Amino acid sequence: MYFKKELAEILFDALEGEIPVQDLERLIEKPKNSEHGDLAFPCFTLAKVKKKAPSQIAQELSGKIQSDTFIKVEVVGAYLNVFLNKKLVAEQVINEIIAQKGDYGSQKVGQGGIVTIDMSSPNIAKPFSMGHLRSTVIGNSISLIMEKCGYKPIKINHLGDWGTQFGKLIAAYKRWGDVEKVKQNPIKELLALYVKFHEEAEGNPVLEDEGRAWFKKLEEGDIEALSLWQWFRDESLKEFSRIYDLMNVTFDSYAGEAFYNDKMDRVVKILMEKQLLTESDQAQVVLLEEEQLPPCLIKKSDGATLYATRDLAAALYRKENYQFVQSLYVVGHEQSLHFKQLIAVLKKAGFDWAEEMVHIPFGMMLKDGKKMSTRKGKVVLLEEVLKESIAIARKNIEEKNPNLVNKDEVAKQVGVGAVIFHDLKNNRMNDIEFSLEEMLRFEGETGPYLQYTYARACSILRKGNWQVTLTEKYKASWEKEWKVVSMLMNFSNVVNRACENYDPSQVAKYIVDLAQAFNKYYAEVKVLEENEERYARLALVYSVTVVIKEGLRLLGMEAPEEM
Ligand code: ARG
Repeated sequence: MYFKKELAEILFDALEGEIPVQDLERLIEKPKNSEHGDLAFPCFTLAKVKKKAPSQIAQELSGKIQSDTFIKVEVVGAYLNVFLNKKLVAEQVINEIIAQKGDYGSQKVGQGGIVTIDMSSPNIAKPFSMGHLRSTVIGNSISLIMEKCGYKPIKINHLGDWGTQFGKLIAAYKRWGDVEKVKQNPIKELLALYVKFHEEAEGNPVLEDEGRAWFKKLEEGDIEALSLWQWFRDESLKEFSRIYDLMNVTFDSYAGEAFYNDKMDRVVKILMEKQLLTESDQAQVVLLEEEQLPPCLIKKSDGATLYATRDLAAALYRKENYQFVQSLYVVGHEQSLHFKQLIAVLKKAGFDWAEEMVHIPFGMMLKDGKKMSTRKGKVVLLEEVLKESIAIARKNIEEKNPNLVNKDEVAKQVGVGAVIFHDLKNNRMNDIEFSLEEMLRFEGETGPYLQYTYARACSILRKGNWQVTLTEKYKASWEKEWKVVSMLMNFSNVVNRACENYDPSQVAKYIVDLAQAFNKYYAEVKVLEENEERYARLALVYSVTVVIKEGLRLLGMEAPEEM
């Protein structure tokens, strides 16, 4: 809440500095029922310090709260219920929004600290899965929210671009591959080659040897092997980039698993020096018994390194290269054990900064209650899902607003926004049921509903010829507007909480509540009616557009002004 601090400072003086102001601020609550005021201060904890009954303390304090902001103070038992001066507060909030526009709600808590965000991270030559979509959407929003809170996010796409599978893929390509086909449809073609390799290998074990031989060549830097690998990587990335472009997501780094090839010896050396490596079935592992975790596999019996070895090297590299204050990994919950092991090994090796690493897990995308696979007979590419969503949005627009000028652009914003919002409105740990129909509804908690509310508010402003006039005075009691005003006032708090909990759903839910409160207000009040309150009402509508637009931006969504 906006005025918590101010109230805490007044209480601090009233208590003659006996209790730290931060503690007082933490005690202040928001009453569930607005009849009990806008802020409430329970006096129970003070009773011990003051050696008095809480109700008596409340009584004594009530006389000492004097400020223009707080218009009335009531004592109810051990509680001080404080009422805000609606006029003063509403005008202050609205003026702030008008002055700051998209910067409204921005904070400095992050103090420019760098946060690396490992997100999206699909695997080369494999379809972009629903899990990768979730990671992209959640990671992008967390990055925007953290930036708003004053951090400097670095988005890293830790591509799965190395491993024995590439030896097999090269072997398969050498046998059955076709340049043109790969160019036209890289992921579909490469996946087909990979599947064929496995089918044929069952009856023909020579293939496995071929695959191993090619991977060995690749590791040794053989020109042909490397250039084929590079080509598969480039073609796959081209395809992934189309999805990122549609979703407006960019990355600061595409340093994937292969990037750490020459950085793993050092990791192994460090672990050896610290005497953390143990041999087990001829493989090298770090035992994590004290941590009650299974051993972390570092090197296979044939000397090959693993996913975890690469992640250890990546963690060191990121700390040294970026000096992060936090290092986030937005990866599905099925990899929770991997990240626990990763952090535990680093701590064991004496890297205290491993404390700053956070795995941000999320649930699965389901279709009819079952895990949604990207491949069902044929490859269902995510790009197709997005395109279908855009097509449905386009059809809706055609029905609702046939005269709209930039239909294609708006359809893209709505179609993609619908997919994003459907993901982010849920607590990220929940599994979510995939349903295009559900996502694209214009009512309820959907992206289109929010964008539509925004567009409608914009159209009211156009009709009302809204302009900021610095000379014009607000003439309103702000009673009917209060619900909306108090929500606008809460925006920075919501952003802050979402940042602390890495939880975009808090922003998503907030925008839904704000949109609903606004729509209710608009149904009850004739906003455009010509009378002395008109300027204040339009200023409120304008403020709502600013905050909805900014809230949507923090989720990675756009806000068309007409739709
Ligand atoms: N490529 C991996 C997968 O698709 C995800 C990588 C996540 N990031 C990491 N640093 N391990 O499962």
